Amino acid sequence: MSEISRAAAMLRAGDLVAFPTETVYGLGADASNAAAVGKVFAAKGRPADHPLIVHLPDAGHLERWAIEIPQAARRLAAAFWPGPLTLILKRHPAVIDAITGGQDTVGLRVPRHPLALQLLREFAGGVAAPSANRFGHVSPTTAAHVRDELGAAVGMVLDGGPCQVGIESTILDLSSGMPRILRPGMLDAMALAEVLGEVPAFGAEGAVPRVSGSLESHYAPTTPMRLLPADAIAPAIDLALGRGQRVVVFAPASPGRRESNLIWREASRDPGAYAHELYARLREFDALGGDLILVAAPPVDEAWRGVNDRLQRAAAEVK
Ligand code: TXA
Ligand code: MG
Repeated sequence: MSEISRAAAMLRAGDLVAFPTETVYGLGADASNAAAVGKVFAAKGRPADHPLIVHLPDAGHLERWAIEIPQAARRLAAAFWPGPLTLILKRHPAVIDAITGGQDTVGLRVPRHPLALQLLREFAGGVAAPSANRFGHVSPTTAAHVRDELGAAVGMVLDGGPCQVGIESTILDLSSGMPRILRPGMLDAMALAEVLGEVPAFGAEGAVPRVSGSLESHYAPTTPMRLLPADAIAPAIDLALGRGQRVVVFAPASPGRRESNLIWREASRDPGAYAHELYARLREFDALGGDLILVAAPPVDEAWRGVNDRLQRAAAEVK
């Protein structure tokens, strides 16, 4: 039996399979099996009211999961699937509450990684898959990250190499009249606007955080991290070194000095390349055993929105 056939058989048996997508690795379970979905929440330590994204083999499966599908959803699916876009639509009555967190909507996407697509086609159904990390921690972008973090809890980890995009999909809510980006990603508002015919709004309606990634401290490394304007990095280094701290600096430009307690990692000036390596970098910074991570803030620009969002959450105080 091929690895993909074995993985599909495990999903059918109600077991968990971690698999690569173009964004991050997902922790997959049969989305129509409540017991299997329950295992995902247990493995991640994730609160039960946080809904999961259902991954589909192709847009032809939309009708099984959603109702009242707007034309905009079909146009976006045609333009961007397979790809890093999750659509929030009105849920089909057959969708189980464990997936939706009891909400009347469901998140759907067709991922672009060839292994993910092979698995979904072989399974021929919906696979619920959050990022394959412990709740609140950095998402995995390699199979090794998944094994390090979830190890024994996962039946199988499909290894598809490092994820190309590197940060999670853009989440677009089409369940109410106005399209809204609930989570920015590398597919940006301008690209969506070209197909939608209007620029989507940003942020969730109301106060309830319907997107777990919208909680402030999320995607966080264990080491304290500060996000600073480029010209504030040098004084922050002085302060930290003065306190005897070991500092990791992530910036496009070298701090221009050598100290045993100062480690510099060069950040890309290209948003795509930056996103691609971001989570692996955050894990590396933790492993370097520093006391503080200083990150030079990238430009405030639409192309950087997804990256800036993750950096702000990674730098937010853990409450
Ligand atoms: O790129 C991605 O989207 C990755 C890969 C594995 O596909 N998945 C991912 O899953 O990031 P997760 O569970 O870590 O984040 C999914 C986000 C959560 O913040 C969840 O709250 C939101 O999607 N979500 C899912 N269904 C929703 C719904 N019906 N309404 C609002 N938000 C929803
Ligand atoms: Mg996640």
